[in-house]
Amino acid sequence: MLDKVKYLLKEIENFRSNKKEEIENKRIELLSKKGEISKLFAEFKNVPNDQKKEFGQKINELKNKALSKLNSLKEKLEENGGEINAKDLSLPSEFVKLGSRHPISIVRNEIIQNFSRLGFVISEGPEIEDDWHVFSALNFPENHPARDMQDTFFINKNPDILLRTHTSSVQVRVMQNQKPPIRTISPGRVFRNEAISARAHCIFHQVEGLYIDKNVSFADLKQTLLYFAKEMFGEKIEIRLRPSYFPFTEPSAEMDISCKICGGSGCNVCKYTGWVEILGCGMVDPNVLESNGIDNQKYTGFAFGMGIERITMLKYQIKDLRLFFENDIRFLQQFEAAI
Ligand code: PHE
Repeated sequence: MLDKVKYLLKEIENFRSNKKEEIENKRIELLSKKGEISKLFAEFKNVPNDQKKEFGQKINELKNKALSKLNSLKEKLEENGGEINAKDLSLPSEFVKLGSRHPISIVRNEIIQNFSRLGFVISEGPEIEDDWHVFSALNFPENHPARDMQDTFFINKNPDILLRTHTSSVQVRVMQNQKPPIRTISPGRVFRNEAISARAHCIFHQVEGLYIDKNVSFADLKQTLLYFAKEMFGEKIEIRLRPSYFPFTEPSAEMDISCKICGGSGCNVCKYTGWVEILGCGMVDPNVLESNGIDNQKYTGFAFGMGIERITMLKYQIKDLRLFFENDIRFLQQFEAAI
């Protein structure tokens, strides 16, 4: 709802007109009984008590801004003796409309900032990869389904050149080129041969993390992810780790967070379980350390990977993933203004 207030504030700030009818239409749109601002006032009773003060202040501010803006436009019109059709060269020029950041970029930056505070540095790598960096070095068995054309986009077979299916390939490159301690995150675009739907796309974005040092334990992994979840979704969020399987981690887990939308009581987003999965993680398999020239007797590590689309959908309660790719300005304008 606060987003709506912000959006309307921006709209009224940007509103310009020297036509009586347009100004009146704007007044009806915002301030009449059924207008957008009046609707917000009607919503006031549904706002939780602890947010009433802030929300109340914001909608009053919005209403006052709208009233004074429309009145000043009307006054100007009267001063000028009615509608002006001829160009008034002394008028200030129109504001150039600024763009806004894409929600995926906003959330990617936020994820990066959260892990930067823990000392993770960014690493990047190519989107077109070879089989070794995406699969072999990560302990994928020869006949793993991800190596199939149905799951992965191949550019060339024998030697296998493909579009990376995860940014774990970047971490392979880091392990090849650096000595522990390693603490890195790899944000980037990934590709999977999937049908496009409200919940899946063949192109999406990930942030994967890797931490290798002496004595890194599962407790470190859990605490890191708990910190991340709280920074991202608020103090009240709870996490749950479920055993899972990935070829490159052992033990492996998937992390759920308590459903932000229903607060855990059950809704269609969490499929009435109260929990939503947001990432995969685990302790780096000793085989992976060995394949990448790291002494697995001396070092241990953890890794995790998440889809940025998923996190963004939960954070902003967006129901259809395809919206991220359509670049409809009405969708994009709802997010933070350009910095
Ligand atoms: N690479 C996994 C994926 O793309 C995510 C993951 C990363 C899981 C690290 C465990 C550890 O789904």
